Amino acid sequence: MLYPELFKSLETARWSMANDVPWDSFDASRLSDDQAMTIKMNAITEWSALPATEMFLRDNIDDSDFSAFMSIWFYEEQKHALVLMDYLQRFRPDLAPSEAELHEVRFEFDPAPPLETLMLHFCGEVRLTQWYRRAAEWHTEPVIKHIYDLLSRDEARHGGAYLRYMKRAIERTGDVARAAFARIGVLMASSSRAGKPLHPTNLHVSKSNFPRDTVQSRLPDPDWLEHWLSEQICFDKACEARVIGGILRNLSSLFEHKIETPADLSRYRKTLAAA
Ligand SMILES: [Fe+2]
Ligand SMILES: [Fe+2]
Repeated sequence: MLYPELFKSLETARWSMANDVPWDSFDASRLSDDQAMTIKMNAITEWSALPATEMFLRDNIDDSDFSAFMSIWFYEEQKHALVLMDYLQRFRPDLAPSEAELHEVRFEFDPAPPLETLMLHFCGEVRLTQWYRRAAEWHTEPVIKHIYDLLSRDEARHGGAYLRYMKRAIERTGDVARAAFARIGVLMASSSRAGKPLHPTNLHVSKSNFPRDTVQSRLPDPDWLEHWLSEQICFDKACEARVIGGILRNLSSLFEHKIETPADLSRYRKTLAAA
């Protein structure tokens, strides 16, 4: 089981909302309305770990180890929502999300194959690590800069934990797992072709709720994400290359196969399919 070990390592790395956020350094003159609004949207997006956890537990009914790990992931993601909400509550209470706005992102995701979902969320964590890293640079107010840095490091650790479960899946099911990871990897590494931000919260997950079947579509401003990425934190080609590079590097070591470009991954995927 990976859960006991992951529990220990994530507990060691854990930061405290009371002691590790420099609340007293807040500087109101360095927080614009636009910046504060993005914090609200990020807080609600983080809250969507709730329906994601419900999906993970349902779709991994046969995997108690991974389900136990969900307790840590869920706790840390809800804490992300909470620290952002606490920030707004203290300094911009007019922009703190309401309970109804939070509840709006709780909807049932369609059942999905667990290996594909695992890979999707691994890629999501890699991506969010970079988004938050950029957010920490873009913000000018010192407390929120610090918070985004804490969040970015957590997301990177989450990616690492998912990767452990991916490795375990390959040990157990070999090419079945490799094929699932390669399939999603090809999609996630082709972000320029997708024409939209490739994060789990921006993908369609509930046919019966279409078109309001992505987390982003249920936010108070469904269009904020693209604006945040392109106009605010300026997540440009170089940033995107870091996300894709991170995904490919990890897959390369996971598959023990040299994969440096999306085309390499696509070829590898075809080899698996042929076999
Ligand atoms: Fe998070
Ligand atoms: Fe995360």
